Amino acid sequence: MTSRLDDESLASLAAHSVELISTLQHPSGAYPASPTFSAYTGYSWFRDGAFIADGMSSANAIESASRFFDWCASILIARRAQIETIERAEAAGTPLDNSQMLATRFTFDGAEGDDDWWDFQTDGYGTWMWAAVAHSRRHGLGLERWREGIELSVRYLLATWERPCFDWWEEFETERHVSTLGCVIAGLSAAVSADVLPADIATRATVATTAAREIIELDGVRDGHLVKWLGSVAVDGSLAALISPLAVVDGASALAAASTARIDHELTVDGGVHRYLGDTFYGGGQWPLLSCMLGLAYAAGGDTARARNQLEWAASTVTAEGFLPEQVDDDLLDPSRVAEWQERWGSVATPLLWSHAMYVRLAVEIGMYSPPAEWPASVATTENHFRNESETD
Ligand code: BGC
Repeated sequence: MTSRLDDESLASLAAHSVELISTLQHPSGAYPASPTFSAYTGYSWFRDGAFIADGMSSANAIESASRFFDWCASILIARRAQIETIERAEAAGTPLDNSQMLATRFTFDGAEGDDDWWDFQTDGYGTWMWAAVAHSRRHGLGLERWREGIELSVRYLLATWERPCFDWWEEFETERHVSTLGCVIAGLSAAVSADVLPADIATRATVATTAAREIIELDGVRDGHLVKWLGSVAVDGSLAALISPLAVVDGASALAAASTARIDHELTVDGGVHRYLGDTFYGGGQWPLLSCMLGLAYAAGGDTARARNQLEWAASTVTAEGFLPEQVDDDLLDPSRVAEWQERWGSVATPLLWSHAMYVRLAVEIGMYSPPAEWPASVATTENHFRNESETD
C-alpha cells in the first residue's frame, strides 16, 4: 500500500473525483461504470449510478446528479408496457420468468445492449429513488421531473421485491439478499415520504416496506448483526450501506454497531474491505468503495476517527494517474483466482466511478472536503482521455 495522504491531498482527491465523474458523464446523463474496463464499457448501472449521483449531489454537482435521475426516469418510462405486463402476471399468480424482468444495466442511450449479463437485480430500482429524493431534499428541488419514473419504479418493485434475485455482486441468484432488501426499503420509503405517489400505490409501498423490515428482523439478523442473505450467518461489505448512506438502519443502534463491528472483524484488513469471505473475483481483493461505506457507517455511529481512517485507506489506492480502482490486490482471499479474470476481462476496472463517488461522499460527510456552493453544470477541467472509448457503444 502507498503512504497515507495529508488533509490537503485528501481534499484534492475529492475535488478531482468530482471532475473526473463529470468529465465522463455521458450527455444522456448516464454515468459509465468504468470507461475502459472491457466488460463494463458502454454501460451504466442503476446501482453504481445511484451512489455516484448521491456522491455528486453531496458535492453540490447538482445538475450532474439531476441528469442521471433524468436518465433513470426515461428508462422506466420507456418500459411502462413491460412493467405493466410484469404487474399483471404477478397479480394473476403467474409471475414471469426472471429473464423478462428489467435489466440491471443499460447502454448510455437507454437500451439493454447486446451482451449477456446477470440481469435480474432489484436493488438499483430502489436506490435511484432514494438518491433522487435525498438530492431533492438536499438542494430544495421539486420531484415533478422524476415523478413518473418514480411511480413506475415503485410499481415494478411492488411486483418483484419478494423474489430472490442476483445480489449487488451479480451472484447468488436464488437467495434473498439483505442489502438488496435494504435498497428496496430505502427506495420505497423515500418515494412514500416524498408524497409523489397516488394514494393506493403509496399505501401498498408502505405495507411492503414494513413487511421487508420484518423479514430482515426475522431472517436477516444473526447474533445481533445483519447477514448477507436471509438465513445466512456471514456478512457482506455492502451491508454497511444500510447504515449509511441509505439510513435504513439507525447509525446509533445496537444493530448498526454489531454489523459494523462484524464487517470490520470478518472482512477488513487495515481499512480495506473485502466484499465477502469466499469472494474469488480477481482473487477477492479489497474494494475502496466498501471501505468508504464502512467509513460512512462509522461516521453515522459517531466514530469520526475510524471514518477518517477508512477515507485514508481508500485514498491510498489511488493510481499515479489519479484513478481509484474497483479493487486492489494487497490482501487477496484467493490469489489462485486472479489469472483467470485477467485472461477473461483484462486488468481490474480503473477508474471505477463508483469508487470515486463513495470517496467524495465520505470526504464530504466527515468534513474533509468542502465543495463549492454549486459546481457549474459542466465542472470538468480534466481532459477526457476516455470520451471516444466510452462512446463507441
Ligand atoms: C460489480 C457490481 C457493479 C458492476 C459495475 C461488478 O463487478 O459486482 O456491483 O455494479 O461491476 O461496476
